[in-house]
Amino acid sequence: MSKIDNILKKDTFSREDIVSLLGLQGPDKTALFAQSARIKEENVGNRVFFRGLIEFSNICVKNCLYCGIRHDNDAVNRYNLSDKEIYDAARFAFQNNYGSIVLQSGEVETDSFVKRVEKILQGVNRITNGKLRITLSCGEQEKSVYRRWHDSGAHRYLLRIESSNPGLYTRLHPGAMHDFRRRLDCLYSLQETGFQVGTGVMIGLPFQSLDDLAGDLLFMKQFNIDMVGMGPYLEHVDTPLYAFRDELLPREERFQLTLKMIAILRILMKDINIAATTALQAIDKLGREKAIKIGANVIMPNITPGKYRDDYLLYQNKPCTDENADDCKTCLEARIALADNEIAYGEWGDSGHFKKRVTGDK
Ligand code: 5AD
Ligand code: SF4
Ligand code: FES
Repeated sequence: MSKIDNILKKDTFSREDIVSLLGLQGPDKTALFAQSARIKEENVGNRVFFRGLIEFSNICVKNCLYCGIRHDNDAVNRYNLSDKEIYDAARFAFQNNYGSIVLQSGEVETDSFVKRVEKILQGVNRITNGKLRITLSCGEQEKSVYRRWHDSGAHRYLLRIESSNPGLYTRLHPGAMHDFRRRLDCLYSLQETGFQVGTGVMIGLPFQSLDDLAGDLLFMKQFNIDMVGMGPYLEHVDTPLYAFRDELLPREERFQLTLKMIAILRILMKDINIAATTALQAIDKLGREKAIKIGANVIMPNITPGKYRDDYLLYQNKPCTDENADDCKTCLEARIALADNEIAYGEWGDSGHFKKRVTGDK
């Protein structure tokens, strides 16, 4: 039996095993993908949950070196959706049976922002009779804020660790306003508050090794995450990290590495929700379908009003900026059918892992 067959036989991997798996090519890589596809089918089925994504504000106080909407990028037109625009988008998701929405923004920690999010959560719950699951993705906040938002009806929270290696994290997030320890503490606070917690990393960052990526997957397993969003790092010309563009892996390699990360995580954590991220599609036209085939089971159709989409460019060539909510729905229906999966319309799609975690099974 080959070394790879020996690793794939196990259902938990060492750091060295993961580094070997991340390096696979050719038929060995195909064997990894076949295994993760089988585990997906057995544990979460060939069904994909929709989360309508509302990018409700691009105002951000942070300065992550990779991000196109970082505070110091003056070329960005800053916006805040009106309450009505947010409710209209939420209503679209509800009427189209999406089951869930994600409210995402840049990071702001003011009292007025906290209150606004609270009001929006209550408003969305009112107009949908509490029938939409709401995920927040609004960055680092005090635990008391997380509690208020949870009390106002948000049940899931996404906060990517970006990199679980504190050294790499600090290199990409320099200065006193960023702090690896605080980010970690926020993830723990979210878990303690009772949220379904999602995290994630970027793949193919400058200065990042396969060993770092193996550490990221072990971090997710050890932290007991419920959901994940991982995507390839993509350059943005108006960011400091653009200076290192010549040191990057070719885009196709970053793409393949992301698929391998998804496949390995599906084997390590069989019942979590894994998103097929939009960034995959910025590299490969069939990127999200490929991720679904080998392990992902969540897609986030963009339902932000079309006129704002050009102002939420975390990276260049972001897909769906010329489309509206209906276009993305039609497009994704075709794509998911192509991947031989079906859309689980009308379902919340809570992570099976979360259910077991809160009842003490995991
Ligand atoms: N390339 C890929 N992903 C990015 N993000 C931010 N900037 C980039 C980029 N240049 C991701 C981060 C963040 C999420 C909202 O978008 O991981 O958490
Ligand atoms: Fe702000 Fe998030 Fe971009 Fe960092 S990645 S600059 S926190 S929007
Ligand atoms: Fe938005 Fe295809 S998902 S256009």
